[in-house]
Amino acid sequence: MSARTSPAEAFEKIPTVLFGHAPEAAAALAREVRDLILARRAAGRPTVLGLATGSTPVPFYRELIRLHKEEGLSFHDVITFNLDEYYGLERTHRESYFRFMQEQLFAHIDLQPDNIHLPDGTVPLDEVFAHCAAYEAAIEAAGGVDLQILGIGRTGHIGFNEPGSSRDSLTRLLPLDPLTRLDAAADFLGGENVPRFAITMGVGTILRARKLVMMAWGGNKAGIIAKAIEGPETEAVSASFLQSHPDARAFLDKGASSALTRIRLPWLVGRAEWTPAETRRAVLWLALKEKKPVLKLRDNEYNEHGMAELLTRYGNAYHLNIEVFNRQQQTITGWPGGKPNADDTSRPERAAPFPKTVLVLAPEPQDDVLGMGSTIERLVTQGHDVHICYMTGGDLRVTDAEAIRFARVLLETAEQDSDLWKEQISYARGILSEIETKGPFGDPPARLRHLKALIRRGEARDAAISLGVKPSQIRFLDLPFYTEGRYRQFRLSPQDATATGSVLATLRPHQIYITGASADPSSVQGMAFAAFRSAWDARAGHNWQEHCRIWLYRSHQSEYEPHEIQMAIPMSPDQLSQKLSAVQKFQSHTLPDLLDGERNRHTARTYDALGTAEYEAIEAFRRWKS
Ligand code: F6R
Repeated sequence: MSARTSPAEAFEKIPTVLFGHAPEAAAALAREVRDLILARRAAGRPTVLGLATGSTPVPFYRELIRLHKEEGLSFHDVITFNLDEYYGLERTHRESYFRFMQEQLFAHIDLQPDNIHLPDGTVPLDEVFAHCAAYEAAIEAAGGVDLQILGIGRTGHIGFNEPGSSRDSLTRLLPLDPLTRLDAAADFLGGENVPRFAITMGVGTILRARKLVMMAWGGNKAGIIAKAIEGPETEAVSASFLQSHPDARAFLDKGASSALTRIRLPWLVGRAEWTPAETRRAVLWLALKEKKPVLKLRDNEYNEHGMAELLTRYGNAYHLNIEVFNRQQQTITGWPGGKPNADDTSRPERAAPFPKTVLVLAPEPQDDVLGMGSTIERLVTQGHDVHICYMTGGDLRVTDAEAIRFARVLLETAEQDSDLWKEQISYARGILSEIETKGPFGDPPARLRHLKALIRRGEARDAAISLGVKPSQIRFLDLPFYTEGRYRQFRLSPQDATATGSVLATLRPHQIYITGASADPSSVQGMAFAAFRSAWDARAGHNWQEHCRIWLYRSHQSEYEPHEIQMAIPMSPDQLSQKLSAVQKFQSHTLPDLLDGERNRHTARTYDALGTAEYEAIEAFRRWKS
């Protein structure tokens, strides 16, 4: 847009505000909403808010509730319109957006029930059209939306306006994109349970709001956010239509902003500082862009891509190439715990002490094996003392069918001697009847969740043992945020950090491996990392911490670009097969796209393309500094 001048903004076609973390962004937005409500109230006018569901607005709603409870902000004259609702779900369904809004916001503030509006997912098909038209009319009658809150789906949708939605579309029934349904699969305990249709405000309806704020958190939104903000306005990414709205903004945390040009390619917007890290990023980016190994890059290619200043510092491409090539090559090591008695000045890990005490923290069972199965095997084989700690039980991923199978086996076994096994019989029957009573979508009672966690534990133990870890060195923490919560609605408590901290204090490890640092903060991985971070900070200054190195491994939500990798553990074809057979121990649930090792192969291909060694597959790690 012409009024904006800074080079970053030349790329960003939606004004974008960057925040360190989601809660800061949520607090800033909540303050804006408070000011809006107070200003309109002073003018004798109600405030009309457009609201979204999903995990993104949850910290914002928590902040509104806090403003209401602690600062007395009233919502008595606020009118709300939600973006969307799944079609076919009763309002009482645990995943209906109606229920979500009640639980996350409405039940905790003083909104008038008559002022709350959501599309109704239960209207018969032949009445949907009229219902949608009435929804549009109700927004109009309320005077239009003053401020619309938006999240963004990985398909680029706002509301449920999936790719193909036109700029002028209005409230309507539409089919959900397969990726959207996949993202909702965990909430619905399986992809097959996710509704196929939803009623959503249209893009045109949304754009009529006077002000809009689109929020996004975590690295898994980074790619689509960059397309929406910097790409062309297109029906393929409905959020891109915000570009032509006169008062739309994006509020992002670090993870969600990481693919924006100003962050990813800062030299293109004149912001490069040419630190060693930035230099490496730029050179590797250029090599991949030009499809050339690093050592073959030429002076003119640097000049043509805004890197003349960098070139000047090094004199010529030859010296620059060599330096970055060596640094990339030095990330590769077959010794994740350090190579004993070897010069370690340019190795990712220290040689001493040897052996090391290693703690692998897995937010959910399977994160460890997917992210670093081969590295775990290598650490054990090389003589380190490897402990794995599962921070949550992972039971929310286990289907009822699995629990039924286990309960039936127990029942049939116990019925062989029904006098001796009375309690077992009553337990198994109890589980089966709990499953029946709650139905496919009811909240699972604690006992059922516990059984599912045990199933997942068994799988985690099998997988870890197959990688050589001793059974006595496998721990299960069952952090309360998970045992007492559900997807998208987890809440950390001090006990989560305390429990994590006590494992750290007991083991005093030399190396910690964890994941989730830039994940969506509401995800299990994001929550678990936050618990770890506060446990780590609480012990700040302890002597053992100064000698402890923290490595981040990849979660299924996160990708590392080659310049971010500080340790690359290469795998032979046999080592990859061993890892994949450990992954397959998780029979109750596996993300299908992670079964074939493609991500590890892809990293190896990238290293190959850069001109470093060619391997079958690579596991990648970054160092974390608090
Ligand atoms: C929800 C909505 C959707 C979500 C989007 C992101 O009312 O309209 O557009 O905002 O799917 O979902 P989360 O926040 O769960 O990542």
